[in-house]
Amino acid sequence: MSSGRVYLDYNATAPPDPEVIARIRPYMEADFGNPSSLHREGQRARAAINGARAGLARILHCQENEILFTSGATEALNHVFLGFLQQPAGHLITTQIEHLAVLEPCRFLEKSGWSVTYLPVDGDGLVSPAAVRQAVRPDTRLISCMHANNETGTVQPVREIGEIARAAGIPFLTDAVQSFGKISVDLAAWNASFAVFSAHKIGGLKGTGLLYVRRDRDLTSLIRGGHQERGGRGGTENVAGIVAMAEAARLAEARRAGEAARLKTLRDTLEAGILKQLTGARVTAGGAERLPNTLHVVWEHLDSEKLLMGFDLAGIAISNGSACDSGSVEPSHVVAALGLPDSYRKGAVRFSLGRGTTAEEIDRALTETIRIVRHLQKERVHAGPVKHAGN
Ligand SMILES: Cc1ncc(COP(=O)(O)O)c(C=O)c1O
Repeated sequence: MSSGRVYLDYNATAPPDPEVIARIRPYMEADFGNPSSLHREGQRARAAINGARAGLARILHCQENEILFTSGATEALNHVFLGFLQQPAGHLITTQIEHLAVLEPCRFLEKSGWSVTYLPVDGDGLVSPAAVRQAVRPDTRLISCMHANNETGTVQPVREIGEIARAAGIPFLTDAVQSFGKISVDLAAWNASFAVFSAHKIGGLKGTGLLYVRRDRDLTSLIRGGHQERGGRGGTENVAGIVAMAEAARLAEARRAGEAARLKTLRDTLEAGILKQLTGARVTAGGAERLPNTLHVVWEHLDSEKLLMGFDLAGIAISNGSACDSGSVEPSHVVAALGLPDSYRKGAVRFSLGRGTTAEEIDRALTETIRIVRHLQKERVHAGPVKHAGN
């Protein structure tokens, strides 16, 4: 990366791809029209959206009218959950490790009389299909489980969960924000009724997302005020954002196999170096299926805020998981769900690699990790156990 910084926070957001930026330039200059306008400028913008929708439908193996463009995955998830408010209250199944864009709408629904089961995970952050099956009730209206977790990278058994939903005749929602472009996404094999995607995680722009609604399902519009998206979402379309999402998805899919192998090798090098050279580190989901770009480590007796500060000062951008949770000293809800011994709960950090990550950057990240962790471990020993009691 230029500027001497090393960016290893691709699960938070990826830099827009230069090819994507080149592709959308016309829609911010000559082809600026409103897609709802009948004149030529408007029709050019309309054609751009149609082309983007067709491209994304090809990649997702779905029909064009199953795609609804939104302002991001958060809106898309809210759309699904709040769409359920139109029905009499019932029961929903989700997991403790979903993004807040799932958990908060669920909590909101609970206030309106809905009952929600939040399924636990094991130490690898994995949801058990048997637990999903056991949680099903006659009044269950939705099963929701993310494909890959943003913090740990754990890939969930969505095929099995989708099969349970199919057998019980219950709609299945999956949040594929983190897996899309990194590993295979197969909506038909998972029996997904709804799925959500976000552009900025794959080299598109922030503020664009996609809600897949299978043709046999229907959702009440959340945003009213226009007939855009076949009446499914009011508001003038974000033409450049939509074109960017389609182009970013096309590039990500074309590069996926090569990038997955390359990033896994780099990730594994970093992981092996950490485990060899440092003490007190536990890799989350090391034995489970996980995203090839993600390394989640918890350190015994260390504090992730101090770790992150050390990395930032050293020119390396990493995270302790969810960007929304940063600034808080408590472990994220995902780390809390892992059932770690108390001494590990505050020491989580996530390295997430991407398109721009190089072997030199990983070397530098390893060198700095060793230096920062050893320094904090020494500092802790010198401070003595009393000051840190209760950690
Ligand atoms: C798993 C997951 N779901 C949903 C979202 C929300 O996506 P957006 O930023 O498009 O609203 C994110 C982004 O942080 C995410 O990682």
